[in-house]
Amino acid sequence: MTGRVAGRVALVTGASSGLGKRFAQVLAAEGAKVIVAARRKDRLDELVKELGANAIAVQCDVTDEAQVIAMFDAAEAKFGLVDTVINNAGMTHANNAVTQDIAEFRKIMDLNVTSVWCVAREAARRLIKAGPEASHRGRIVNIASMAGRIVIPHVTAYNTSKAACAHLTRSLAREWARHGINVNALSPGYVATELTEEWLNGEGGAKTIGKSPRRRVMDENSLDEALLFLCSDQSKFVTGTDVLVDDAQSMG
Ligand SMILES: NC(=O)c1ccc[n+]([C@@H]2O[C@H](COP(=O)([O-])OP(=O)(O)OC[C@H]3O[C@@H](n4cnc5c(N)ncnc54)[C@H](OP(=O)(O)O)[C@@H]3O)[C@@H](O)[C@H]2O)c1
Repeated sequence: MTGRVAGRVALVTGASSGLGKRFAQVLAAEGAKVIVAARRKDRLDELVKELGANAIAVQCDVTDEAQVIAMFDAAEAKFGLVDTVINNAGMTHANNAVTQDIAEFRKIMDLNVTSVWCVAREAARRLIKAGPEASHRGRIVNIASMAGRIVIPHVTAYNTSKAACAHLTRSLAREWARHGINVNALSPGYVATELTEEWLNGEGGAKTIGKSPRRRVMDENSLDEALLFLCSDQSKFVTGTDVLVDDAQSMG
């Protein structure tokens, strides 16, 4: 540990499993105070037990604006102003466009796009209000996907939501550039987590791994360095980018 994010107050959404849990562990290990958020509070409490006194759990459905505001209030009451946000909560789906109903399409867009906007907006409002010294520390990392750049078959809503997430990132980066808040996307390729486990272990996963240039998927540690860079002072001049960490999968 080298304390690359020491002194930061970092909020991680979707921290009850998979990548979000890993991001929280990495940020805590590198010195940040961490707020872990999701709907499954029991899982968050387990994680906080592991992380210790520099972490708190906040139950939050990020698609609910009032809960998002309350989450920031709770974070601020415990650790002070949130200067680092990992907008990680997200979901995919099993339906093709022709079999999908509009409610599911809307649900994907609501979580993968609207809630990313809502959480980022709340962070930026508070940072800007706190003044330039605070806002220049602002780091917002939106977890998009290589699916925002290439078409992954049969997940049209997911692909669309992740492309929107990446462009939302650029737009917010432009809007908040003068305040010093950096907004970047981090786009993973396939990572073995709860979200992808079932599919990766099936026929579809085997085919995809077979086509990928390196014939493998990444694991949860694969994004650690990119995440830390985007959250740290070292990325001062980096905003509006979409960092692709996909082990060449999108070129398969
Ligand atoms: N795994 C991959 O291969 C991969 C590749 C590219 C991009 N990604 C992206 O990485 C992110 C994390 O994926 P993952 O693989 O770690 O998936 P995961 O294990 O299913 O985690 C998703 C997280 O989102 C949370 N969540 C879902 N709905 C929520 C809501 N309404 N409010 C608050 N939290 C909510 C879940 O917690 P609760 O159910 O407790 O709320 C869970 O912690 C997603 O944005 C995903 O699209 C993943």
